[in-house]
Amino acid sequence: MKPFAERTHEKMKEVLMDPAAQGPEVYYYMIRGGKEKKNITVWETGIVGREYIKTYGHYHVGELDETYWVLYGEGIVLLQTRKTGSNGKPVDDEIETFKAIRVKKGDGVFIPAETGHLAVNIGKTWLVTADDSPVNFKEKDPVSLPGHADYDAVQKMQGFAYYVVEDGGEPKLVKNPRYRAIPEASIEQV
Ligand SMILES: [Fe+2]
Repeated sequence: MKPFAERTHEKMKEVLMDPAAQGPEVYYYMIRGGKEKKNITVWETGIVGREYIKTYGHYHVGELDETYWVLYGEGIVLLQTRKTGSNGKPVDDEIETFKAIRVKKGDGVFIPAETGHLAVNIGKTWLVTADDSPVNFKEKDPVSLPGHADYDAVQKMQGFAYYVVEDGGEPKLVKNPRYRAIPEASIEQV
């Protein structure tokens, strides 16, 4: 089992603002070591359509938090939580809280359980992070699609509640029209 994997354009089309846009073959590279050894992610640079290169984004299955440390580069971390339906389950197209946090080398971001997360590379260099989410190498596809991560809820909505686009050289948030409810949000410094 090789502990590394890549996220391709083919897969990322599921969550792009413009799935027809041209993009690099690989958006980001993952090396998994789990909670102790840590996981490393390396983002490609550039823009796809109007969007900065991003990770796919996911929620965690169960009560699992995570911390990201930025090792190099500049990015924006998106955090979103869903409203709870009358059946006690999260409602995928209704967002309760949304945050966009600008980060750079040296910053850390805590991701509480139940909080969907992705990150965007807004710099001219690789964006590199370490994180402490667990890995179970006995799973079917533990490196690319670990079992603790729920990608389906994001795929269904074609991405997060906001896309991060380039506008006159600066990052800007654009609402994803597929969500029924989205709180207002702006990009904040860490
Ligand atoms: Fe995660």
